[in-house]
Amino acid sequence: MELIKTTNYTIKKANEQLQNHAEKVKQSKFWLGYHIAPPAGWLNDPNGLVYFKGEYHAFYQHYPYKSEWGPMHWGHAKSTDLIHWEHLPVALAPEYEYEAGGCFSGSAVVSGDELYLIYTGHNEKREPKEVQCVAKSTDGIHFEKLQENPVIAAPPEDGSFDFRDPKVWKQNDLWNMVVGSGKDGIGKALLYRSKDLKNWEYTGVVLESNGNQGDMWECPDIFSLDDDVDVLIFSPMNMEGSKTRYMIGKMDEITGTFETVSDDEIDYGVDFYAPQTFLDDQNRRILISWMNMWKKDMPEQADGWAGALTIPRELSVENNKLIMKPVEELKQLRTKQLVKEYEKALELSDLCLELEMVITSESSNKLGFSLLSEKGESVKIGYNGIGKQIFTDRREMQQGEQDLCQAYYENGKRDIKLTAYLDRSSIELFVDDGQLVMTNRFYFKGDNITLLISGNENDIDTLAIWQLKVTM
Ligand code: FRU
Repeated sequence: MELIKTTNYTIKKANEQLQNHAEKVKQSKFWLGYHIAPPAGWLNDPNGLVYFKGEYHAFYQHYPYKSEWGPMHWGHAKSTDLIHWEHLPVALAPEYEYEAGGCFSGSAVVSGDELYLIYTGHNEKREPKEVQCVAKSTDGIHFEKLQENPVIAAPPEDGSFDFRDPKVWKQNDLWNMVVGSGKDGIGKALLYRSKDLKNWEYTGVVLESNGNQGDMWECPDIFSLDDDVDVLIFSPMNMEGSKTRYMIGKMDEITGTFETVSDDEIDYGVDFYAPQTFLDDQNRRILISWMNMWKKDMPEQADGWAGALTIPRELSVENNKLIMKPVEELKQLRTKQLVKEYEKALELSDLCLELEMVITSESSNKLGFSLLSEKGESVKIGYNGIGKQIFTDRREMQQGEQDLCQAYYENGKRDIKLTAYLDRSSIELFVDDGQLVMTNRFYFKGDNITLLISGNENDIDTLAIWQLKVTM
């Protein structure tokens, strides 16, 4: 039976739209030099991160027609090394009744020779509004939606109509799917199992909020690290003081229930939401996240685009703490090392830098660095030894968010290592090789930037700055 399309969206139309606007969008002063961003239009969550036939694929929530959220398509990029990305045609457009409001977030798995995308079909005009769907491909570029869609047509009793973002993985010969939901103010992660990716059986609740952990758990993901540690990550809606969390513990192999040992924020920045992980061919667990947040100012919208993905980060666990560091490949982006100066003038377009400094944790000065513009704007980044706070201070910016982002940090040592990836309108700050991470966007009105190192030679042990290659 041929399914009838109920929307006017097509992949062809989406690709034409992107082709017509990509050139102009790239002129944006906020355009990122080495991060994935949409060729034009809107991007939110990373989706379907996967290693398939020798290449890394990153899909993402995408609306090609405007720099605002709209009926979701899946944008697509691929790479052989996690640092040079090539845009591919849009992978999914919302076409059928079961997904007419958008192909929402989901994941990808490889089965045999084929790549499967498992996603949420969203349609506000139908009850239930969210169902789970599958599309497949042999070339990793063109996808065909299954006749069996939706493969899960309604939420279970434990959940509600907010029932989305399936993350699928294989365990003991069975496909497992964790789906985000919530009921009566309690966010949850629900588990399904299947032999063939088409017929799914509900297993039960993996974990739910203790009452203070949000009312809907978006984008859940479950994986093992170091063999005997399991990790659950999710993005809770309406949780006081938190956006994206990890739980470290153990998932019961039979019931799927999760016993939590410790939990914390994944990234202390403002511009970090809905991360997803995948396993690569070297057995590394890699995380990529949306590098923005709902309801925040995004000045790049005026230039015809919005949203980007973070750099890939490798995960590990140490003393029940999640550690997240830039993948090794990023070092290949280094072109030249800048002369060690405490004050350096740059053009905004050259602000694609990696900066590494080791500072004294005991200093009463705020140590780190600032970016200043000729218009009196500044972003200050570093460590405040008195309050023991890692900070990113955007209060003196003139557009975008103007706030002070802080997180308590102490390592019990004399030194603290700061590694920062700067990319024209983004800063990803890694403390002590990923013990704490803080991701934020910033939007200068000025074009002439001064990079100013704060602190003197007594406070700073090592300082190295590399110019990074522009790949996008
Ligand atoms: C998270 C989210 C998901 C949903 C998608 C829609 O940012 O709200 O729950 O699938 O975005 O674009």
